Amino acid sequence: VLSIVVLISGGGSNLRALLEAAADANFPARIVAVGSDNDAPGLEHAEAFGVPSFTVVPTAFADRASWGDELLAQVEAWSPDLVVCAGFMRILPPRFVAALSPNLINTHPALLPAFPGAHAVRDALAAGVAETGVTVHIVDEGVDTGPVLVQRVVPILAGDTEFDLHERIKIVERDVIVSAVESIAERRIVLPEPARNRQHQENPS
Ligand code: GAR
Repeated sequence: VLSIVVLISGGGSNLRALLEAAADANFPARIVAVGSDNDAPGLEHAEAFGVPSFTVVPTAFADRASWGDELLAQVEAWSPDLVVCAGFMRILPPRFVAALSPNLINTHPALLPAFPGAHAVRDALAAGVAETGVTVHIVDEGVDTGPVLVQRVVPILAGDTEFDLHERIKIVERDVIVSAVESIAERRIVLPEPARNRQHQENPS
């Protein structure tokens, strides 16, 4: 059984979908902890399912790197096989990514490489494209640039607001993230081997 830490920043509807899936004894993954960068409303879902949570707030640290180091320590305390960013709205610092990738995945509300960043739904609407969607990908050191694992298309409808479209994307997204996790656990999606020497390359000393 794959053990997972989920990172969130907001409402946590994707987290909830994962918790509900993992509540089935036949699901091949367990959520061992949920982490956040703020007092996110979605942490209530963790509590409702009896899953421990932790919060590491950036303003409590001198810089992004030391915030990332503490977040990494909190995550690693659970020795997860996989870390899932599900609406985690901060860019993860290089040491965090190097320590966990490729066992670090993210769900993004667009068809990457189109519309990376924090406003993917708004940007897709503004671009006037006919369709957008969901991407689950491995997190690398860029912003939404890592290898794509799964994508699913969501049509944009006439009159869609950002809220409407994001809600329709999230319905699909919950299904995509749950099945991506299931596929990783069952090795139908095989993540590459970790590059164990990467940290040394990053911190030549
Ligand atoms: C999701 O749509 C997720 O893809 C998006 O935030 C939403 C979180 O919803 N993430 C990003 O935009 C990351 N760039 P949730 O809190 O209800 O799961």
